[in-house]
Amino acid sequence: MSFSLGPRAASAGYRLEAFERIGSTNAEALVRARSGEAGPLWFVTSEQAAGRGRRNRPWIAPRGNLAASILEVMQVPPAVAATLGFAAGLALVAALRSAGSDETAFALKWPNDVMANGEKLAGILLEAEAVGDRLAVVVGIGTNVVAAPEGTPVPATSLNALRIHLSAEPLFAALSDAWAGYRRIWDDGCGFAEIRRSWLELAAGLGGPVSIVSGGSTVTGSFDTIDEIGCMIVRTSDGRRVPISAGDVYFGAAASAGAA
Ligand code: BTN
Repeated sequence: MSFSLGPRAASAGYRLEAFERIGSTNAEALVRARSGEAGPLWFVTSEQAAGRGRRNRPWIAPRGNLAASILEVMQVPPAVAATLGFAAGLALVAALRSAGSDETAFALKWPNDVMANGEKLAGILLEAEAVGDRLAVVVGIGTNVVAAPEGTPVPATSLNALRIHLSAEPLFAALSDAWAGYRRIWDDGCGFAEIRRSWLELAAGLGGPVSIVSGGSTVTGSFDTIDEIGCMIVRTSDGRRVPISAGDVYFGAAASAGAA
């Protein structure tokens, strides 16, 4: 089977470049943006050998997993572009549901993970770079279809382990269609309020104990909400509402373990 765009993505003007094997779809998208590609253009690969994850972690996608990046070039400040990650999580959940996996409990873990039955199914990495007076934004989405990494700090799962019979190619087509829809709602950041509402409906750990570890410091409290720019708001035991812009998130019992 080969990769193709879904019908809504194709008619909305998206294009696709598919690879058999590549280092990183995000890296390829940024290289192309530097040489003048204005998108919107999807990069998808059957196998990703040197993929990157958040916080400089590797993200290798063996054959059968889905590694895809969308390049969009726009005129928005980087902080606004960063909120596209929330739209990407919503798009992936919509794609998984539309492709038939509606019995699994999908959730969105701040900032950018897609969880299935409490384990990490997919990760999203946003990268942005100025090109002239515009911003090239690359949203990379990695989904564990046939295999999940072992020994990760947050347990990972795959569609295969969940007995969801869906391969990377139809999932990609559904994702490209769902992305076209959420990208339109996001509307260069003007529609983030709607994205935020939908995201909160699927948020993992909302209202519960949370620890966020970042750069050697830890904030512990309860997960109150995300704010209008996508920061996690943590309510601490002394009643403060602390906005968090980045970090590793631990919920529930793991909140105290993460803080240790
Ligand atoms: C994470 O750390 O959770 C984010 C992982 C993002 C991986 C995807 S796979 C497609 C795209 N290309 C990359 O090199 N990374 C992203």
